[in-house]
Amino acid sequence: MNTGTGKTALITGASSGIGQELAKLFAQDGYNLVLVARSDDKLDRLAEVFKSNYGTQEITVIGKDLATEDAAQDVYNQVKAKDITVDVLVNDAGVGLYGLFATDTDWEREKAMIHLNVLTVTQMTKLFLYDMLARNEGKILNLASLLSITPTPLMAVYAGTKAYVYNFTQSLINELKDTNVTITALLPNATDTDFFNKAGAENTKVTDEVQDPVMVAKAGYDALMAGKSKVVPGGFKNKSYEVLSYVAPQETLAAVMRDKMSQKPEPEEKEPTISLAWGIGFGIAVIAGIALTIGYKNTSDFQKAKYRYKVKSAGNSLSDTLSSVLDTVVETVVDAYQNTKAKAEQIVAKTEDVEEEIAA
Ligand SMILES: NC(=O)c1ccc[n+]([C@@H]2O[C@H](COP(=O)([O-])OP(=O)(O)OC[C@H]3O[C@@H](n4cnc5c(N)ncnc54)[C@H](OP(=O)(O)O)[C@@H]3O)[C@@H](O)[C@H]2O)c1
Repeated sequence: MNTGTGKTALITGASSGIGQELAKLFAQDGYNLVLVARSDDKLDRLAEVFKSNYGTQEITVIGKDLATEDAAQDVYNQVKAKDITVDVLVNDAGVGLYGLFATDTDWEREKAMIHLNVLTVTQMTKLFLYDMLARNEGKILNLASLLSITPTPLMAVYAGTKAYVYNFTQSLINELKDTNVTITALLPNATDTDFFNKAGAENTKVTDEVQDPVMVAKAGYDALMAGKSKVVPGGFKNKSYEVLSYVAPQETLAAVMRDKMSQKPEPEEKEPTISLAWGIGFGIAVIAGIALTIGYKNTSDFQKAKYRYKVKSAGNSLSDTLSSVLDTVVETVVDAYQNTKAKAEQIVAKTEDVEEEIAA
């Protein structure tokens, strides 16, 4: 039963997917809500469910196309007119678009996507952040993506918009560091929502590995409440992808993502060779090993003992990661892979040095 916090969360994109799951978490925790999306009929039904299931006291529904000029200003004006103080802003509404940039995708849809994913997120943040700073209190959650840190052929403009969201968010975190206002970026891997259907990417390989939107929303919610700068939901596997994105050559990442974003193979199509797949897996294992080694070096003896246990149990997760990476390898990665493997071998040598240092 809702005890009511007296606080209000405004969630864009609350009519489905991750946004809807986030709205539910706020409702369960006693927040009043402002729900924004185009489908106000869906939002009205959701409001009824929240009121009856969780006793939510105040729910304001704003049906608005956020890909239109000054949409954010209009939402802000409606909120102010109702004298609502927004304590938490969630910029979730976003769309993708699938296809080759030069020849396949439609400019009008691309323009609308940039408007929604970039302009509106920026303007919403500007308007509500100003008021939060005046009160020296507030929280913002921005929906970025693992694609924020990975070049993504066949979804090039979408990935560009999410790179903007992530970079923008991390810059603001620094600007806000001496205040009580926090801003958090949520970077999900592919998630089981209507996103890929709407983007025209429903038959791509990446849709074979989607994760649960309930888990993604909970990870984002917890990170937001804790005032963290970012969160990558999905445990060790997605953390490995994140680390890999920071250190692997961009052209290698682009080739891997090109394969992930390609159409699912026909049953008779040739699968990638085992040796190549193991090579890429080896690269990931090395990177994960470096992260673990650095962590190990900087911990107390007691923590080191715990760490050794964790390393052992991480073995299973790592092998899951490796087998999932097998699916992403294509012939076009071969050249880039040779470079990566050579670099990985150098890193292994350095890692062994560090291990010897630790042992000494
Ligand atoms: N699913 C994934 O794999 C994934 C991974 C990483 C990041 N994300 C990000 O997560 C966010 C939520 O996506 P999702 O996966 O939950 O997809 P979704 O189920 O399709 O939800 C998208 C939400 O955005 C709203 N929206 C779309 N266009 C709008 C517009 N022009 N004006 C107002 N609202 C609009 C939709 O509502 P209406 O259609 O009713 O307007 C819906 O509520 C997006 O920012 C997406 O980029 C998704």
